[in-house]
Amino acid sequence: MDVFQCIRTRRTVREFTAEPVPDAVIHKILQAARWAPSSSNTQPWHFIVVKEPATIAELGRICTQGAFIGQAPAAIAIVMDNARRAQLDAGRALQQMELTAWSEGLGTCFVGIRGEQQDAVKALLGIPEELELVTVLPFGYRILREPGTGTPRKPMSEITHGERFGQRLTFS
Ligand SMILES: Cc1cc2nc3c(=O)[nH]c(=O)nc-3n(C[C@H](O)[C@H](O)[C@H](O)COP(=O)(O)O)c2cc1C
Repeated sequence: MDVFQCIRTRRTVREFTAEPVPDAVIHKILQAARWAPSSSNTQPWHFIVVKEPATIAELGRICTQGAFIGQAPAAIAIVMDNARRAQLDAGRALQQMELTAWSEGLGTCFVGIRGEQQDAVKALLGIPEELELVTVLPFGYRILREPGTGTPRKPMSEITHGERFGQRLTFS
């Protein structure tokens, strides 16, 4: 799939078929993360692949903003070292994972995990206390019930500027 087509068609997916995700596809998703750029090439990330049904179900119970994790055949937790630009680096890696998954027919969703839920997921997955759990991404073959082009975006004119902030950007 062409890169822009992948970017343009990708949508957040919260429903998955029961079909298992082949190891080769999970490996490819991890390679996509591994080859992401990072600040000073520090690569301050760890990726925990979870396929055990009992652990998946428990993740779904803990993560109230992403209970659908419990129905996914696989999930990958993104865990960062205490690095200077960890959030930015994590974002680069997870976007590459999302796009690679999409190009393989899969879907995923960024799930926010805060406070006590963070502690519970860290305990469940044995994540050392000093590391930062950014998200748990569920992965599975996607079910998209709503047809269409996805969630709306702000108009281009609202987010772009030509030469100086506030000046209209025009294309010839
Ligand atoms: C930082 C971040 C946090 C998010 N947290 C959640 C979440 O906790 N639960 C959820 O269902 N979706 C979550 N999302 C998904 C967004 O709602 C979704 O990306 C947005 O509505 C745009 O839709 P699209 O990804 O289909 O284009 C999150 C996305 C981002 C980037």
